[in-house]
Order: sequence, then C-alpha cells, then structure tokens
Amino acid sequence: MTQIDAIIAQMTLAEKAALCTGATAWTTTPVERLGVPEMFVADGPHGVRRVPDATSMALGALPATCFPSASATACSWNPTLLHRMGQALAEEAIALGVDVLLGPGVNMKRIPTCGRNFEYFSEDPFLAGELAVSLIDGIQSRGVGTSLKHYAANSQEEQRMTISAEVDQRTLREIYLPAFEAAVTRAQPWTVMCSYNRVNGVYASEHRQLLTEILKEEWGFEGLVVSDWTAVHDRVAALQAGLDLEMPGPRPRRVQAVIDAVEQGELAEATLDEAVRRILRIVFKAAATPKGHPFDETGHHALARQVAADSMVLLKNNGILPLAKGGRIAVIGRAAREAHFQGGGSSQITPIRVDSPLDELAALAGPAAITYCDGYPEGDSSQPALIAEAAAAAQAADVALLYIAMPRFKEIEGFDRTDLDLTRHQIALIQAVTAVQPASVVILNNGSAVAMSEWIDGAAAVLEAWMMGQAGGGAIADLLFGVVNPSGKLTETFPLRLADTPAYLNYPGECGQVRYGEGIFIGYRYYDAREQPVLFPFGHGLSYTTFEYSPPRVSAETFRDVDGVVVEFEVTNTGAVAGQEVAQVYVHDCAAAVQRPPKELKGFAKVALQPGETKTVAVPLDGRAFAYFHPGHGRWITEGGEFDILVGASSADLRGAVRVTLESTAALPSLLGPLSSVNDWLADPVGRVVIGPLFAQVQAAMQATFSAGAGGDDREAMDAMQFVAGAPLPELLEFMGDHLPVPPAVLIAGLLQQVHG
Ligand code: BGC
Repeated sequence: MTQIDAIIAQMTLAEKAALCTGATAWTTTPVERLGVPEMFVADGPHGVRRVPDATSMALGALPATCFPSASATACSWNPTLLHRMGQALAEEAIALGVDVLLGPGVNMKRIPTCGRNFEYFSEDPFLAGELAVSLIDGIQSRGVGTSLKHYAANSQEEQRMTISAEVDQRTLREIYLPAFEAAVTRAQPWTVMCSYNRVNGVYASEHRQLLTEILKEEWGFEGLVVSDWTAVHDRVAALQAGLDLEMPGPRPRRVQAVIDAVEQGELAEATLDEAVRRILRIVFKAAATPKGHPFDETGHHALARQVAADSMVLLKNNGILPLAKGGRIAVIGRAAREAHFQGGGSSQITPIRVDSPLDELAALAGPAAITYCDGYPEGDSSQPALIAEAAAAAQAADVALLYIAMPRFKEIEGFDRTDLDLTRHQIALIQAVTAVQPASVVILNNGSAVAMSEWIDGAAAVLEAWMMGQAGGGAIADLLFGVVNPSGKLTETFPLRLADTPAYLNYPGECGQVRYGEGIFIGYRYYDAREQPVLFPFGHGLSYTTFEYSPPRVSAETFRDVDGVVVEFEVTNTGAVAGQEVAQVYVHDCAAAVQRPPKELKGFAKVALQPGETKTVAVPLDGRAFAYFHPGHGRWITEGGEFDILVGASSADLRGAVRVTLESTAALPSLLGPLSSVNDWLADPVGRVVIGPLFAQVQAAMQATFSAGAGGDDREAMDAMQFVAGAPLPELLEFMGDHLPVPPAVLIAGLLQQVHG
C-alpha cells in the first residue's frame, strides 16, 4: 500500500469530500490530523500573482516580475527562452510560497477579437503545444506545478461562463485539443484547469469525454483536474465526469452534496477516492519543494527584457530602422511615458519595477535631442489639440516615434473587442504625424491583431511590441537602435478587416451556442484555403539582416508513418549584422479523402547566425505530422500518398519544398454498416470484394430494365447505376425486388458479417 493509499484508508467521508473543494480562494483543504498540508495556487501565465490574503479574490498581489504576456512570448518561437522564463517564474513562486502557477493558457485564437488572446500563444495548435511544453517543463523542473488552461474550446469571452462551443470531433481533435495533448503527454502539468464554457452542450466541468476519456484515459494525465474559478455547477456530476478539485472555496454546501451523494449511493466512493488520490499526489509533490528562498530580481528583470526583445515583431521597415544615433527625435504617445506592459484581469501582476520606454530610449539615444508629447488621451475622448501638438513636434524633428497602446477599455479579460482598430483618436494621430513626418515609426502595445489599413502606408516602420512585461520599455529601445536585432515572428495572422476573419459569420453565436462552422479552417489555414489577402501573414517578422535557405533535403523520399522523416536545410545570414531566423516547416497533403488545409505548421527552429555564417537545421517530422483525425474511426490516421514538405521564413514566404511519399501502416477496421452506399462498399478494400457478385447482379438487372423498355439503352442504365450508387444499399436492393433470394436486410447482414468477421 502506498503512503497515499494509507492516508485515503484513514480519511473519513467528510474529509475526502472537503479535500475536493478549496479551503479558500487560493488554497486546498488541509487534513491536519493525517499530515496533509494545504496547497497554495496563484495566477498566472506571465508572472506570479500571489495575493497577500488567501481568502481574498481582489486583484492586488505581492510584487513579482512581470514577463511579457503569452501573445508576445509566443512570437519569440524560442522554446529555450520560454523554458528559462519558466524556471524564473518557479523561482518567484518558491519565494512567494506558491505551489502551483495557474497557467499557461493554450486556447486557440479562433477570433482576433477574443478579450483574452493576450494570454494565449497562437492560432496554430502545434506551435502553442511546443511552447507550452517548454514553459511547463521550465516551471516544473524547479518543483513548482502548473495549470494548463482553459480546457477546452474556450476561445471567446462573450458569454464565457455559459456559451456552448458547438464543435465537431475532427475540429476539436485537430485544432482545439492538440496543444493540450502535447502539453499533457510530454510535460505532464500537475494540474489541468477546465474552462467555464460548455462544449457541445455539456459544461466543460462536467464533460466526461474531455476530462476522463480523452485527458486521463487516452492521454494518460497523471495530475488533477481543477475547475476554473466558479466553473462548477453540479458538484457530483463534475466529480463523476472527472473534475477532481473545485475552486475557489470554501463551499460547505458542495462538500455536503458530495457526502450526501455517497451516502445515498448516487456517487461511488471509489470515484471520490480517485479524485482524492489525484489531489493528494499533487499536494505532497508540492510540499516536497521547500519555499521561501529569495530570487534574483535584477537577473529576472534582465531576463524579462531579453524575452521582450526576442518576442517583439518588426512588421514593416522601409529602412529607417535601426535608428542612427543623434539628431532630433519626437517621441509621441503616452505609452512612451507609462508602459503598457500587461493585460487586465486575473493575470494582472504587481510588477517589481517598470521601465519607462522614454527613459530607456533616452539612455540609448546618445546625443539625440528628444521632445515628448502625450499624443492621445487616456480615455476614448477626442482631443484635437494633442494631435496638433504632436504633428508640430514631429515636423520639427528628424524622426517621430509613435508609442501607441491599445487602451485597457478595449482589451481585457471578460470582454471581446468589437473591432480590430486602435481608437479613432489614435488613428487620427498617426495619420496627422505621418502626413508631416515621413520618418515616422509606430510602436504598438496590444495583445492581439490590430487593423492598420487606415494608417500603415504613411508609417516608415511598425514595431509590434505587444504587452511587453515590465522591462519591455528597454527592449523597444534595444530594437530601435539595433542593439538587438528583431527576431520575433507572428503567431497569429493580422487580417486586413474583421469581416475577412474565419469565424466572422459564426461569432458570437446565438441562443447560447456558438457554432464553430469554419471547422479546421482557423487562422492561416483559412486565409490560405480562401486565397484571401491579409495584412501580415502567420509567421511574418522582419530582421535587420537577410537570410538565405538552401533547398531542403529529406532523410528518405519514401518512409513509413511509424518511422517519420527528417527534413534538413541550411540557413545563411547573408547580411551585415548578427541575427536570428525563425525557419518554419509546413506540410501539404497532395491528395486526401477529406478536406485538409493547404498547409499546416509541423516544425520550426530559431537559429542564431553571425554575418556570413551558415547552420544546418534538422527538423524531425513524425507520423502525426502527416495525419488527420478521422471522425468515423475516432482516431488519428495517416493516408498513404504524396506530401510536400515546405520550408519558409513565414507562411507566405516559402523558400523551398521537397516531395515525399508516406506509407501508411494503419490497419483500419472497415466502417461499412447497414446504411452504407454502393459507393462506400466499392471504396472499401474488403467490401469491394464481398459485394462484387451482388453488384454484378444489380448491374445486369438494371441493364435489362433500361434496355428492354421503349427507347431504353445501355447509357440510360449506366446513368441509373450512377444515380443509385450514392444511395444506401438497402434502397438499391429494394429496387431489385423479386430478383433477390432473401429480404435486403438479411442479405446485408450476411455481407457485413463477411466484412467485419
Ligand atoms: C480565470 C482563470 C484564473 C482564475 C483564478 C478565472 O476567472 O478564467 O484563468 O486562473 O480566474 O484567478
């Protein structure tokens, strides 16, 4: 008997029920008499939000390093750096007495307006999964747990507590679950947090398929499932579905409901024991990490600056960047004075310190003469005087730097944006400044895609600085002056207009349901398939140097799915300064039985190169990189055939391709059933043989019928054959009437017996 089993054996029913619900807003319930300690959890993904009082749901927290938010860090495409950031987060959690950090969030960016997109990595499930694995590994390598969230299909804030995401199984498996799957199977987060919403009508907190069948049984999740805060509706149903820990607490009525359900035989005590076992395993794991060591604040601040610089994306540059030192610089925009470094809501950190972008710029600008003006008001009002002042300052300078932050009232947890735009005032400001000063650089702080068509043509350069964390101000200066060469690339498409986006007609839903009607076609999968122009494609980002790619090679032109294949190519820095390139590998299926996106990201590498230096990049692709989820078989399958492996600097800047042939080893059972059509039977390798004689009989009967009548001919018989081939087999057999020796149902049962054995 393990130590945990021994404890469970001694626990009363009341103690077990209590353990499955929080004691406070942030702690689990201890069982002192048995030496079970409490466990302290805290938000969030880009910093430790340790509230001083565990009973409080207020946002105020003890100071911690605020790193860039997920939409920024993802653009680094740098798992190594995320791992390091994870370790730093864990060091801070340890210092602040936190056992489990409530993050990362790996929900897909289905719509660019989702109010929490700043907390999520990408519109691409593979990329989000890779980054989550690194961050979780980094955090957990120091003995601090994580909470992978929000599971699942939680891609809008509108009606987030109740909306039902109506999503088909293939879409769920190929788009909304793989990031969770990768994180669970490869990094084993200590906890997974269920989302608020419903999935196909069932609350995620009560979703047995998601929580038990997929997460625990199929993926082998060993940790505990925790509810999002107040996401539980029926405690007993949630436990039965696989929800182990309800947060926050205390919730005495919930505890009593569990006790009653066991006593009345509605809930098996074994089910409760399983939840208790999972919770105890994590509680003891957490307790094994001694807490309270201080952390290196200065080192973490420097790391936050490095992460920010690695994550910012240079979207446009007509050559004005990097800036030369000296001259007159007009700094415009209040985001230069007050850094916009994080989003609002549960992930809000109390930063240890915040670098002023303006001061950091001044520190690097050398002898430059800097003037500053606010440019835009804090709220949504229009103040033409601010624009006039900014335009005058820009005109009097050699270069204008516009620091523009998407205001908090437009972008925050709990609400979705209603458009993709900056404020009307900000747009007018940029237009006025760029009209008088062609050497204008726009620096953006925001958490998700922004529309720019109204002003981008006037800007000489645009730097996407994201919600950049407490040290982001310095990172902007580093990039503007070329102290660091930009290397971030977009992990979400920037569309031209909201109306162009994949879910435009299927958002926000109605009558409590949102239909994921675009299916697997989200993000670049959609824009590619529609050949729809975008503002900036997925994977885009500029550098101060240039990179060349050699043609790609593969380890084998023909390979089996179980063996996979390795694609290799050289990347050379052909410019004059050192830089990092994010090389991307996509897979295109040349022919498939189902609709597939034109290409899907399946690998990437960030390569640091000195001027003139060449490095070989090797990206392994396993069978899964070529597979799709077959709803009929209820599993991932590979189809043998040709695929193109595409290598590029972005999803729209492909530099090379190599064709390979995959041999599928999948032994798939036949899907033929009583209602399968003739076409289905003919497409099935065994069915084709089994139905052969009968099919010949049908053909003959048809021929006889159509050729016999006045004006009838063989052609008519063939047309009729084609017409009925799509109909269920029973219908066709009815047509044969008395020619059949036995009734159709009996005949088909016999045929199916031959197919399925
Ligand atoms: C959020 C979670 C967060 C929790 C605790 C919820 O409202 O959705 O992401 O971890 O609150 O603050």
